[in-house]
Amino acid sequence: MSAPVISVRDLTVRFPSLDGSEEVRAVDGVTFDIRPGETFGVIGESGSGKSTVGRTLVGLLEPTSGTMTFGDTDRAAMSRREWRRERRHYQMIFQDPNAALNPRMTILDSLIEPMRIVGGRSREEMQETALAALEKVGLRRDMAQRYPHEMSGGQKQRVNIARILPLSPRLIVCDEVVAALDVSIRGEILNLFRKLQDDLGVAYAFIAHDISVVAQISDRIAVTYLGQFVELGPTENVVNDPLHPYTVALLSAEPQPLPKHLRHRRRMVLEGDIPSPMNPPPGCRFHTRCPWATAECSAREPEWRELKPDHHVACHHATAEGLPPLPSRRTTED
Ligand SMILES: Nc1ncnc2c1ncn2[C@@H]1O[C@H](COP(=O)(O)OP(=O)(O)OP(=O)(O)O)[C@@H](O)[C@H]1O
Ligand SMILES: [Mg+2]
Repeated sequence: MSAPVISVRDLTVRFPSLDGSEEVRAVDGVTFDIRPGETFGVIGESGSGKSTVGRTLVGLLEPTSGTMTFGDTDRAAMSRREWRRERRHYQMIFQDPNAALNPRMTILDSLIEPMRIVGGRSREEMQETALAALEKVGLRRDMAQRYPHEMSGGQKQRVNIARILPLSPRLIVCDEVVAALDVSIRGEILNLFRKLQDDLGVAYAFIAHDISVVAQISDRIAVTYLGQFVELGPTENVVNDPLHPYTVALLSAEPQPLPKHLRHRRRMVLEGDIPSPMNPPPGCRFHTRCPWATAECSAREPEWRELKPDHHVACHHATAEGLPPLPSRRTTED
């Protein structure tokens, strides 16, 4: 297997709380690789640290601790110049299609801007590259003369993808990129992502609340809870045979039916609110909401174990066969 596009070891990202007296542990000891050309899905409740992980991957946030290796170079060992050159290959697309588009600039100028910052191309070259990128994302060349307000949300998201293509991306972090779009065009945009991946070999970190969206597009899925990964494995495994109680709960809460081959049997209702990331529960962070929790769970943090090939989980009760039968009435088999 070729070297990962990015390797993250024991990453933590902390923010000061509003009054500065405490720390928000937004990401707290996360380890993973993203492989070339794969789609790495990230799911988890609001506030679990998904966007913080994504922003750190592309250099919009600095890690508090931990290491990040880009290709084969440790981020910490790169000079400012090397980092500037390297980070252009790691890009991000946001939920709001307008986030990266200046309303006063034509689409053409918005497409040219990232190339201008990188430098080394003539105006004509940049223009031609921009128009070719527009075609690659399924838009007509004449749309380059429009302004953002003259385009739909889906078209603008296509422009956001086109802006990145001339930078030879290795990884694109997609943070809720279809959440603001009409359901009818989500599928088209997801197809575009797939097609570009086939053509360019780019990897995606695909962050979303909507598990059915993540499951459709991802090769692997990471499940986040309170700043940590609780489970990471191949999509089919995670969705069909989840090993962590939190994953079981997320799948149960899924309002839209999953594709038939990805349906799961176990049902569980998640109770209570997500605890504060300033003061996470001791032991397993999920124990305050977990029907499987025992004394061990509040006393000792579970290790990150590979229970099945390529399938990791942090739970004292999980085995390669899954979770033991639930001792309460909170699940039903259907
Ligand atoms: N710049 C910041 N300053 C202070 N706290 C922050 C900052 N960014 C994020 N946080 C906090 O870090 C935690 C994780 O936030 P993050 O945005 O990564 O979550 P998320 O999983 O993306 O949530 P959502 O699904 O709502 O987008 C939250 O408690 C959030 O309030
Ligand atoms: Mg977010």
